[in-house]
Amino acid sequence: MLEVVDVSKTFNPGTVNENPVLKGLSLKLSPGDFVTIIGGNGAGKSTLMNIISGVLFPDHGRVYLGTHDVTYMPEYRRAKFLGRVFQDPMQGTAGDMEVVENLAMASQRGSFRGLNWNLKSRQFAYFQELLASLDLGLENRLHAKVKLLSGGQRQALTLLMASMNQPDLLLLDEHTAALDPKTAQKVMQVTQRVVSADHLTTLMITHNMQQAIQYGNRLIMMDSGKIVLDIAGEDKKELTVEQLLAKFVTASGNALANDRMLLS
Ligand SMILES: Nc1ncnc2c1ncn2[C@@H]1O[C@H](COP(=O)(O)OP(=O)(O)OP(=O)(O)O)[C@@H](O)[C@H]1O
Ligand SMILES: [Mg+2]
Repeated sequence: MLEVVDVSKTFNPGTVNENPVLKGLSLKLSPGDFVTIIGGNGAGKSTLMNIISGVLFPDHGRVYLGTHDVTYMPEYRRAKFLGRVFQDPMQGTAGDMEVVENLAMASQRGSFRGLNWNLKSRQFAYFQELLASLDLGLENRLHAKVKLLSGGQRQALTLLMASMNQPDLLLLDEHTAALDPKTAQKVMQVTQRVVSADHLTTLMITHNMQQAIQYGNRLIMMDSGKIVLDIAGEDKKELTVEQLLAKFVTASGNALANDRMLLS
């Protein structure tokens, strides 16, 4: 479903600020895989997602989505294969538009022709049903401006929008990190439901080790631009946070440097 082959990326090459961030990284996901990614600050996790989604192009290596070689495909063209949710609840939705307008825009992704659409009652009912499934009371607020929603409601809405067209790959970049613990848990429950309902192939970066163990079928640890640990199946289910920390030290030769991770 996703194949990243020997990808390298250096920022500011040839300057004093030269920063080799990804160093020959390879990763293959099968359909339906739900992979969690953890790693130190600046390990290259978000850069990897930026390369997968076309925000950045790699210096070396290839990226395949299904059978498409998307390595140099512009971001707007591969957007139809991908769903993405960022850490910042403001980023994935249009605050000045209504909840229903945001959903309509997402459902017509790629063919949206402005706000002159005629929302059919069937579609309205479908959106209402989707929102009810979040269990956040949003099914009665279809005409509310998105900027009036809480951060958690907004992230849950972004998640619906990112997944409603059954993307080949769902990318989640610390999408619960800006939320309070209770809301974060709620959004993770929604995430689990959305991912399992459509068997979405998912890549989720998190700084929360418990989350990384609890969710998904495979866990990847990155350090200095490389994958240093890849654990799946029963081995992953039996992991504890302590074991994971110890494995990180063994695999990378360093203590884990991620302030948010160690605080969570
Ligand atoms: N567009 C860019 N231009 C220059 N440097 C960048 C750019 N994006 C990221 N970097 C640098 O690349 C390194 C890796 O950043 P990246 O965001 O991929 O790390 P990360 O693993 O997501 O870390 P964090 O846990 O802090 O989110 C960092 O040193 C960062 O400053
Ligand atoms: Mg990041």
